[in-house]
Amino acid sequence: MPTERFTLEEMLSGWVRETLAGSLPAAVLEGADLSVAATADERFGDYQCNAAMALARAMKKPPREVAGLLTAAAKPGAVERMEIAGPGFVNFTLSADWMAQRLEQAQADDRLGVPEPGRGRTLVLDYSSPNVAKPMHIGHIRSTVIGNALDRLHRFLGWRVISDNHLGDWGTQFGLLIVGFRHFADPAAYETSPIEELERVYVKSYEQSKADPAWLEGARAELVKLQQGDAANRALWQSFVEHSLREFDGIYRRLGVSFDLTRGESFYNDRLVALVADLKARGLAKESDGAWCVFSDGALPPKEDPFRKQEDGEWKDIPCIVQKSDGAFNYATTDLATILSRAEEFHPDAVVYVTDERQQLHFRQVFAVARRLGVATRLEHVWFGLMRLPEGTFSTRQGNVIKLERLLDEAQTRALAVVKASSPDMPAEQQWEVARAVGIGAVKYADLSQNPQSLVTFTWEKALALDGNSAPYLQYACARIASVQDKYRERFPGVEPRRFPIRLTEPVERQLATRLLRFADVVQRAARLYRPSVLADYLYDLAQTYSTFYQNTPFLKAAEGVRESRVRLCDLTAQTLRRGLDLLGIEAPERI
Ligand code: ARG
Repeated sequence: MPTERFTLEEMLSGWVRETLAGSLPAAVLEGADLSVAATADERFGDYQCNAAMALARAMKKPPREVAGLLTAAAKPGAVERMEIAGPGFVNFTLSADWMAQRLEQAQADDRLGVPEPGRGRTLVLDYSSPNVAKPMHIGHIRSTVIGNALDRLHRFLGWRVISDNHLGDWGTQFGLLIVGFRHFADPAAYETSPIEELERVYVKSYEQSKADPAWLEGARAELVKLQQGDAANRALWQSFVEHSLREFDGIYRRLGVSFDLTRGESFYNDRLVALVADLKARGLAKESDGAWCVFSDGALPPKEDPFRKQEDGEWKDIPCIVQKSDGAFNYATTDLATILSRAEEFHPDAVVYVTDERQQLHFRQVFAVARRLGVATRLEHVWFGLMRLPEGTFSTRQGNVIKLERLLDEAQTRALAVVKASSPDMPAEQQWEVARAVGIGAVKYADLSQNPQSLVTFTWEKALALDGNSAPYLQYACARIASVQDKYRERFPGVEPRRFPIRLTEPVERQLATRLLRFADVVQRAARLYRPSVLADYLYDLAQTYSTFYQNTPFLKAAEGVRESRVRLCDLTAQTLRRGLDLLGIEAPERI
């Protein structure tokens, strides 16, 4: 069965455009928002279009009259009824037969009828990107988990995705690390737990630099030597990188995350000299106190200008430093070189970065400089709030870092207790396997289900809840459906429900069906807005609707035909929940 070319919203809004094109001037329709969206309340139909109000303003006509152009036209095949509501909303109620048919088509398609609008387009996705020689802590999990969900969503929608783990392997920390390592490292500790030892060395060296300016100078000198290719420093650096990668890989394996590329900042090192020379030659970088900086070109209104800010009523410059007075290059310099390199190599349609909120100014500046260098690719910074524990923010400095490894261990241990309580008869090995999927899923979902820009307070109760908006709730919903399917097969062996049509007669069947039909639009919206939470919210709503359906509708006791139609709705719900969880990077064990 072929995949659909359009989602339901696209189809309806296409119909609106076509219908209005017959009676309104093209100039009015050109930039107009003709979108049709699913309604939150079925009293307003299944879909609603609000275009009449704005169009009426442009036409100087009453909005209900413009809305009437739609309701007077021949209905699209999907629609049973159209009504004008309030000032000029047009409500569409879908035809139950059409819905049933579309659901049958979705069921016969692995993609559940989701179109592939990304075909032929390339996305470079820069996410996770931890810093070498530092343990990944709970704050890094958001970039990894959100980035990975965006990766899966785009691939599913047909994009060619190049995921790149842009390791912080070239920052100023290496100066402090190198001097620190030479003075304080314990070789045995470095062998057994390298990152922990590097972190200890780094913290000591950092403290020393606060008290001792000569130490700081020494660290700077080592950094410059490293950047200029000094053999001894390079070898040390190489060993830091390799040890860190080994540890990161263990975590990625546990999280089920992999990258197409793992190019650290160092990969772009050879381009920095020429880049800065070019910025100087074009007059984009100017000298200021010995450093080379990019300043505002005044092209943007002051409020949007990333190179200026207002302080005590005065406008101040915030330069983007591309080369420091000691000759060293900056984080921004590397990011500029990275953009140019990615543009050359991949010709992407978009480059998307996933980091925490603190890097907003950095990316706004880097994107603005890239524009001035002639880069036309869409550049997006997807930022998220820092994750908090009830007792406060995670911070490396304060030493209350919860390391990712420990968090995942704890998640699995707690999930195991839950699984043992709910499935005491399951073999121990399977309990472990389920606890792994549930624990890791819970941690991921706790991130993904929130608006990424809101402040997240992590609690175990919320993350592992079996009844709230949580991964375990959705995983249990899948497993419960699997047991309904088992029961059906036991009672009616050899009957293939798909030989019977889907029929939507009860209101709750219709409610479930409208939700199932929204999947394609939800997946596209989650990708377009870079917001996995859009999909998470949908899955939660779907699981709740399913549970109302299941509790209020007889299955096995229903008449033949009705029974099979209901089993098919169960199957399709399970297919949709599993596909949705997979797009979020969450496993759904067959049995729980
Ligand atoms: N390594 C950086 C950090 O941990 C994140 C890098 C994000 N990507 C980029 N191209 N700047 O803060």
